[in-house]
Amino acid sequence: MKRNPADPVRRQACLALHAVFNEGRSLSALLEQPTLEERGRARCRALCYAACRWRFRLEAVVDRLVQKPFRRRDARARTVILLALTELEYLDGAPHAVVDSAVTLVQDFGHGALRGVVNAVLRRFLREREAMLASVDRDAALAAAFPPWIAQRLGVDWPEDAPALLDASNARAPMTLRVAARLGRDEYHGRLAAAGIDAQPGPGRADLQLAAPCDVSDLPGFAQGDCSVQDSAAQFAAALLAPQPPERVLDACAAPGGKTGHLLEQGATPERLTVIDADAQRLERVHGNLARLQYDGVRGVVADAASVSDWWDGELFDAILLDAPCSALGVIRRHPDIKSLRRADDLEPLAALQSSLLDALWSVLKPGGRLLYATCSITRLENEEQVAAFLERTADATAGTVSLPVGRPVSVGWQILPGEMGCDGFYYALLQRQSGPASA
Ligand SMILES: C[S@@+](CC[C@H](N)C(=O)[O-])C[C@H]1O[C@@H](n2cnc3c(N)ncnc32)[C@H](O)[C@@H]1O
Repeated sequence: MKRNPADPVRRQACLALHAVFNEGRSLSALLEQPTLEERGRARCRALCYAACRWRFRLEAVVDRLVQKPFRRRDARARTVILLALTELEYLDGAPHAVVDSAVTLVQDFGHGALRGVVNAVLRRFLREREAMLASVDRDAALAAAFPPWIAQRLGVDWPEDAPALLDASNARAPMTLRVAARLGRDEYHGRLAAAGIDAQPGPGRADLQLAAPCDVSDLPGFAQGDCSVQDSAAQFAAALLAPQPPERVLDACAAPGGKTGHLLEQGATPERLTVIDADAQRLERVHGNLARLQYDGVRGVVADAASVSDWWDGELFDAILLDAPCSALGVIRRHPDIKSLRRADDLEPLAALQSSLLDALWSVLKPGGRLLYATCSITRLENEEQVAAFLERTADATAGTVSLPVGRPVSVGWQILPGEMGCDGFYYALLQRQSGPASA
């Protein structure tokens, strides 16, 4: 029988998902590749996000459906099934079209011998869906579509909040704007309304959470820097560090520069601001973002911020932002591929990196200066335990007060969990360096 050609959007989605699941590639980077026209890209994105979000529940379904495990070289066929299940279960896919497309796709990928298996597996799912899901959902981590290690970790760290936290991490995050400090939030809210864009204020001073995402080119004045796209929780960093001219400020892990722009809007002097990132390509994006916000004169350095001798010019900083590399478990709702990419044994090396960054940056902070430690993680290891250990080993460090309109105080610092008032999961601790000589 002659078959229709494979649907290019589903084909592209399968290739991207295969690269995330089997090669550890980041979904957002894969989706930036302009292989499809605009509408197809939006659909491909929706398919990939949903498949990453629900993967761990659906993989358990595949395990129950497939009698003989797929060989390594047939891994793409498994991804085809996973994508089809995602459409059937979560995207209102029309059963006949989804099954037919999956069979075509598996053939197109050169696994023609598995066409019958794919067809049979999907049809069996349609027949036995309820019993199949009920059996998978007996395991709470799988029911929440999380890899067991993350569910377990968050269950230990946040015993009371874990169920809500996992749910919130599966929800779609709002597209959130930061209105430029030179404009009022209300004024810009009015401009959005006039442009037909529905939004509501978030918990911060300048944030507006959109009812539905839109293209940035539709946002009034975006090209002129009237607003930036930034989660509400991330917008607390600049106010907590509160840079004052002519202070010397360091943004130590700066790319892509969301918080750098905000520090400037809050009063940091461009010529007195240094930004560092270890990734040269990502640092380029900081320069692009600052150009849109019409700031120049900022010194950008590609370096390992922990290797102070590689980049430091000898003048101490009054204020340092360390938005540390972390597990990013607080932003899974925006990056559901994190569920697949992160491994349990990533946490200890990340914590070691954070600790070496804290120690190194402390050495370039002026006595009397302050360092804001931030992560988009929600593990205690990377947050309050990290900062508590730093305070324990650093004689001239004390914890300053952080109090925000969302989230909660923890043993040291402040934690926001995903979904609270529309926010990403975020952690902040403000560290003050004593002015006098350090006491032991
Ligand atoms: C959480 S992101 C920063 C986000 C950024 N502050 C913003 O608001 O847009 C962490 C950044 O740290 C960078 N990074 C990781 N290890 C680093 C190191 N040793 N030194 C400097 N930058 C590092 C990564 O390349 C990444 O861009």
